[in-house]
Amino acid sequence: MNLIYLDEVHSTNQYLHELLLREKCEEGTCVQTRFQTAGRGQQGNSWESEAGKNLTFSLVLYPEFLSAAEQFILSQMVSLGIKEALDHYMEGVSVKWPNDIYWHEKKIAGILIENSLMGSHIEHTVIGIGLNVNQEKFISNAPNPISMKQISNKEFNLEALLNEVLQSIFTQYLKLIQDEADDIRFRYLNSLYRRDGFHKYADANGEFMARIENVSKTGRLCLITDSGEQREYYFKEVSFV
Ligand code: BTN
Repeated sequence: MNLIYLDEVHSTNQYLHELLLREKCEEGTCVQTRFQTAGRGQQGNSWESEAGKNLTFSLVLYPEFLSAAEQFILSQMVSLGIKEALDHYMEGVSVKWPNDIYWHEKKIAGILIENSLMGSHIEHTVIGIGLNVNQEKFISNAPNPISMKQISNKEFNLEALLNEVLQSIFTQYLKLIQDEADDIRFRYLNSLYRRDGFHKYADANGEFMARIENVSKTGRLCLITDSGEQREYYFKEVSFV
């Protein structure tokens, strides 16, 4: 695997996009940095990460066998890869739909996947991951960050952890290539935050109680309300209260 280490960069996702404009990188090429000056989160947010304390990296894959309509499986396999790597270190890790990694009620890692399409197929995908490892204080207005050190009181070796997370993601990717998408979907569903029981949600019409029934192949969250009504949502159409 090709690993590019940068002391400082604007954003590893952005760096990889720019590199891909100039050359075709080997599949699995990973760009890691000690510090991002303009780390990007989902929905145009920024990503806070203290220099040298956490894992901030991006990797490129060429899942040309996937149609654009199937792209949500990439979120599922990356989320699972991170969750299963973290399971070796702690209990209580889950995937908050669609692709946040949670430890109990707090966010421990974020994923920013940017797909480049060629016709109706995916040409390449840049998968950016921010995993909170040794940071002890968060100062941005991100709602509920937590790090592995805050959970365990231990300091982690970033290089070893990066290798484990990457291996775990590549294991899932291999399953995808080997046509095991259904298994990935099944394990993703069972890894979800609030997988069991009724919980409070809110949509444009207000708050309601519901349980998770499924996540569709296109990534829609299917809920069943406490009155038995089925409701389906794309990202941002519903929130966890
Ligand atoms: C989120 O908002 O939850 C997604 C956060 C993704 C952050 C990572 S850090 C490495 C990569 N480079 C970026 O600029 N963002 C992603």
